[in-house]
Amino acid sequence: MLKIAPSILAADFGRLREQVKQAETAGADMIHLDIIDGHFAPNISFGKAISKISLDACSLPHDAHLMVTEPEHYIDDFLEIGAQYITFHLEIGGTKKDLGKNRWVYTIGDAPDRGRIMWLISRIKEGGGKAGLTLNPPTEIEQAFPYLHNVDLLLLMSVNPGFSGQKFLDNVYRKIDLAAKFRQDNNLSFEIMVDGGVGLDNAAELHKAGADILVSGSSFYKSPDYSEFIRKIKS
Ligand code: DX5
Ligand code: ZN
Repeated sequence: MLKIAPSILAADFGRLREQVKQAETAGADMIHLDIIDGHFAPNISFGKAISKISLDACSLPHDAHLMVTEPEHYIDDFLEIGAQYITFHLEIGGTKKDLGKNRWVYTIGDAPDRGRIMWLISRIKEGGGKAGLTLNPPTEIEQAFPYLHNVDLLLLMSVNPGFSGQKFLDNVYRKIDLAAKFRQDNNLSFEIMVDGGVGLDNAAELHKAGADILVSGSSFYKSPDYSEFIRKIKS
């Protein structure tokens, strides 16, 4: 069954509690927290204090998507407030690629530091969380294969991280497909989540390709009727 995770990055922060409760009432399965530090990705979003408002407002599971260069410093904070999933990027320690107009994206650069990635996964799990690994659009899915036996969630970005409301990048379909095959071939059970530019126009195809959880920021919070949106996106 497809799960929907509204991203509060697209919510009205002035009435965050209400916006989170509305997502829960509408039938959302999870709440997605976009934590951006202005280094790993452009934009500075919010941290532990604002995230706690969301966790206190509803009983849905939360996933903290850490778009930060040093996730080491934030794992305990998000476990402490009760985030169930903690997700960090495989591109940490990679190379910053300038996209112009004050935008950039981290690419994998030299091979990821396997010791560091494995340490982060273990730290999240030892703290009682579910560990998620995230890939930016330029990163090939094969780069994640050495870690997929150890993670609970694979988060595939379909926009360069930083902002809600960007155009969907369709190179994610191949990654979903290969990740789903890898999962089946290796008898694994990690969930596949897709994040960025997801809406009513592409949800069915993403689910068919193998996505289990879809993040929806602007398409959810800009829709006129949240319950109707969830009903349609799941049908
Ligand atoms: C981008 C974030 C996404 C974003 C999704 O940095 O990771 O979660 O908020 O927003 P939409 O659905 O509007 O693309
Ligand atoms: Zn996100």
